[in-house]
Amino acid sequence: MMDRAALRLILLGVFLISASSQPVKRKQNVDIYSFYINSTVTSRYATTVITSRVANTVNESQEIQFEVKIPKNAFISKFRMTIEGKIYDGVVKEKQEAQQQYSRAVSRGESAGLIKSVGRTLEDFKTSVTVAALSKVTFELTYEELLKRRLGKYELLINAQPMQPVADFKIDVHIQEKPGISFLEVKGDLSTDDLANAIKTTRADKDAWVTFYPTRDQQTKCKSCGENGLNGDLLITYDVERPNHQGEVMVSNGYFVHYFAPSDVPRIPKNVVFIIDQSGSMYGRKIHQTRLALLKILSDLDEDDHFGLITFDSEVKTWKNELLKATKDNLETAKAFVKEIRDRGATDINAAVLAGVDMINRHPREGTASILILLTDGDPTSGETNKERIMANVKEAIGLKFPLYCLGFGYDVNFDFLTKMSLENGGVARRIYEDSDADLQLQGFYDEVAVPLLTDIQLTYTGGTNLTKTSFSLYFNGSEIVVSGQITDNSVESFTTEVIAVSKGSNVTYHETVMAKDPSDVPPEDEDFMPRLWAYLTVKQILERQVLLKGQEKEDEKKEALKLSLKYQFVTSLTSMVVTKPQEDEVEVADKPEEGGEAPRPPVPGYSQHHFSPSQPGLAYGHSSEPDLHDLRFMIEWSARSAHAAQTCSTCSRDQLSNAHNPTGECRGCSPYYVNSKSS
Ligand SMILES: *[C@@H]1O[C@H](CO)[C@@H](O)[C@H](O)[C@H]1NC(C)=O
Ligand SMILES: *[C@@H]1O[C@H](CO)[C@@H](O)[C@H](O)[C@H]1NC(C)=O
Ligand SMILES: *[C@@H]1O[C@H](CO)[C@@H](O)[C@H](O)[C@H]1NC(C)=O
Ligand SMILES: *[C@@H]1O[C@H](CO)[C@@H](O)[C@H](O)[C@H]1NC(C)=O
Ligand SMILES: *[C@@H]1O[C@H](CO)[C@@H](O)[C@H](O)[C@H]1NC(C)=O
Repeated sequence: MMDRAALRLILLGVFLISASSQPVKRKQNVDIYSFYINSTVTSRYATTVITSRVANTVNESQEIQFEVKIPKNAFISKFRMTIEGKIYDGVVKEKQEAQQQYSRAVSRGESAGLIKSVGRTLEDFKTSVTVAALSKVTFELTYEELLKRRLGKYELLINAQPMQPVADFKIDVHIQEKPGISFLEVKGDLSTDDLANAIKTTRADKDAWVTFYPTRDQQTKCKSCGENGLNGDLLITYDVERPNHQGEVMVSNGYFVHYFAPSDVPRIPKNVVFIIDQSGSMYGRKIHQTRLALLKILSDLDEDDHFGLITFDSEVKTWKNELLKATKDNLETAKAFVKEIRDRGATDINAAVLAGVDMINRHPREGTASILILLTDGDPTSGETNKERIMANVKEAIGLKFPLYCLGFGYDVNFDFLTKMSLENGGVARRIYEDSDADLQLQGFYDEVAVPLLTDIQLTYTGGTNLTKTSFSLYFNGSEIVVSGQITDNSVESFTTEVIAVSKGSNVTYHETVMAKDPSDVPPEDEDFMPRLWAYLTVKQILERQVLLKGQEKEDEKKEALKLSLKYQFVTSLTSMVVTKPQEDEVEVADKPEEGGEAPRPPVPGYSQHHFSPSQPGLAYGHSSEPDLHDLRFMIEWSARSAHAAQTCSTCSRDQLSNAHNPTGECRGCSPYYVNSKSS
């Protein structure tokens, strides 16, 4: 029962309060005397606990804040405050229920206890509590995530920003991987020379430990440190040994997980068509970066790949009418074509994607992997503009024969539409953040799909039930397929997995039988992660599928995801966490921000928001508002183009100017980008 006098703090998914979190001047009368981040990774499943101990050093009660950044991909699973020996635990409830129960609080929209999205990969968790004179509080936050393999490695990102130098600061990471760890590297903007002696890495066969214990002195003097202490990321990247091509299967307590990432097969030549939006809104840096990325990507094609290039605005233009082999000569003419890509006109996504599908359909596909990549930065505004009809057209044309990947560039894309369209066609949607490294993001995405090894992958598990996704259209070198499930008969002696796939035109199968009662040397508590991993994957996949489902099926799946979120205390888009605090009478509201909708927009051009590019490890940005070289070049180019556009535009009518997405033929010189930026 909840104490009536106690204050309820709700963390729930309703509002994204975009009040900026400008670094406030830290009061010197709050002492964060200890700050620990403790991360345990067991078979790619990472559980991180952040513990902050704070003392109120003055002779009056005051509000003490706790603010940390966690990876977007993670689910918060526990939040606890300890004040004067009393424990206040967060309880995860259904979002609606929590919302109704605390509607008074919700309607007041108090802003503490927020989770909000910051930059590309992180979310900000913030709360506060009033602490009596000369008293102490301990905050403890736990989050969990399954690390994804990309380009041959896993990445564990830990953000450290305690807001002031801390006497006792520790980051402890322990990685356990049964097949052994093949390499481990510590990067990130905290991995600098001046902090090098604070980082220690210890390796054993199946374990690795990374500790980061900077002294108080180092916390103020390091490169990315200041008056407020540390501020940066530690990025731990590693990969595991793969002695078995059939993958790694672990069975424990009625659950299993199968990691499948074979490398014993040759690459499959690909048929790839790039569909490039060159509508007016791509104006300036975006079109420039797109050209750069395409030129690099073309250079990386293998000679037995076939490729096609389509650019579109209100018209669809193809480089060649069919797919051509990536020979030196063909690449040269393609590059010349790419260099001529210019922004103009509106956005006819429907016609462009259908043209790409047609191109692939006309090309022999035997023994190859076909991929369609759409890059766009806006809504369909020309030709067929009804999104439902576009999706139906594309789905029918592709008929699940190959995947469509959608890259949404910048702030104005309808990411929900792109997500839905790619999921319907066996692909994924990715955001390309409008920033100085957008060309690298584009290349990074291409690199992930550059080397297909298998197509039409089907995984079967005899005696397995409640399985996560088991069929995949493509498997790329450097990635990993993860399937988890329950075992119907927990008393079975052995457990068998089978994978059937197509490799370069021939069928391949992988079998594996593991003893369910394997007398393993792993203590049972280290295998407790398996039900949580299963629940994490199941919930993630259901939430992702929601956009595709309708009616009863959608409701049933949602119910399932809710049930699991409640059981495992995951803060997802379906749940809220309710925390009871002492005294006061105010309530706080927060959210698990969703990836749909708009990307966080930086306040000024050239501003580098805090982010980390997972596809380009080592490329850290942030904390600085100074534009880098790319930005400067862009700004110079931009002002020159603006002046030019202003001249050309003086002949356009008001309508032509204001209708940014539909400039008519006579007034192509009017860049909507220019018009937009002038009017705002
Ligand atoms: C981190 O967690 C492990 C396992 O729960 C524990 O043994 C260790 O003491 C913790 N380290 C710190 C610094 O809290
Ligand atoms: C705290 O403040 C009260 C009055 O506000 C005063 O009587 C008391 O001596 C102070 N105690 C300390 C330890 O400063
Ligand atoms: C897959 O990637 C690994 C490195 O991660 C490389 O050694 C191997 O040659 C690649 N396989 C193919 C078929 O390209
Ligand atoms: C797992 O599957 C069984 C049927 O095979 C079903 O009865 C059970 O509810 C499922 N459990 C969960 C947690 O989904
Ligand atoms: C692969 O297997 C499928 C069905 O199992 C079969 O229809 C197809 O002919 C096989 N392909 C080859 C190349 O053996």
